[in-house]
Amino acid sequence: MSLKGKVAFFVTTNFHKFSEARHVLAEHGVATAMLRIEAIEIQDDNLEGIAKASVRDAVEKSGLPVLVEDAGLFIDALKGFPGPYSSYVYRTLGTRGVLKLMEGTDKRNAYFYSVIAFHSPERVSPKCFHGKVEGRITLNEQGNQGFGYDPIFEPRGGAGITFAEMTTAMKNRLSHRAQALRKFAVWYRST
Ligand code: IMP
Repeated sequence: MSLKGKVAFFVTTNFHKFSEARHVLAEHGVATAMLRIEAIEIQDDNLEGIAKASVRDAVEKSGLPVLVEDAGLFIDALKGFPGPYSSYVYRTLGTRGVLKLMEGTDKRNAYFYSVIAFHSPERVSPKCFHGKVEGRITLNEQGNQGFGYDPIFEPRGGAGITFAEMTTAMKNRLSHRAQALRKFAVWYRST
């Protein structure tokens, strides 16, 4: 195992996501850079399928060792919606729209799920790492840090505040993305 030369490019256009990833990977001795290429994003009801298709495409386009993430918010009261459609729902309904869908329900359980797919020109197929954080959907938006659904998601073990009320370091102690990335980093360092 060597600490030298471990680098993986993170394919995203979301700077918040990249920034969270950079901190986690740095703690584990993996350097990263943001790669802003348009990797295809297929429609699928399976996060791993989406991430794998994107990461294959990204390697083909860049010729680099790359990471792609696909994540989603799964809300119990909405039978797992928006799940793999989280990005579309965020763009169309937004956090307010999701709160509206949940008006009048006390069942607020939800979880974030992340699939990190790694692939490189030397590999035959992508390798995936998973992370999950349970929590609840708040009644109102709270906080202005982070991105996406952060203002309405209160993670379990987070002292009753939303991801949007946390620093990146605090969010990284609990988040779905950080968990998946830690698994990746441990594996990558051992290769
Ligand atoms: P994607 O992985 O970028 O496709 O994420 C799907 C959707 O979930 C996007 O609308 C993101 O904003 C949202 N999302 C993913 N991860 C997070 C997170 O850590 N906090 C809040 N929203 C997230």
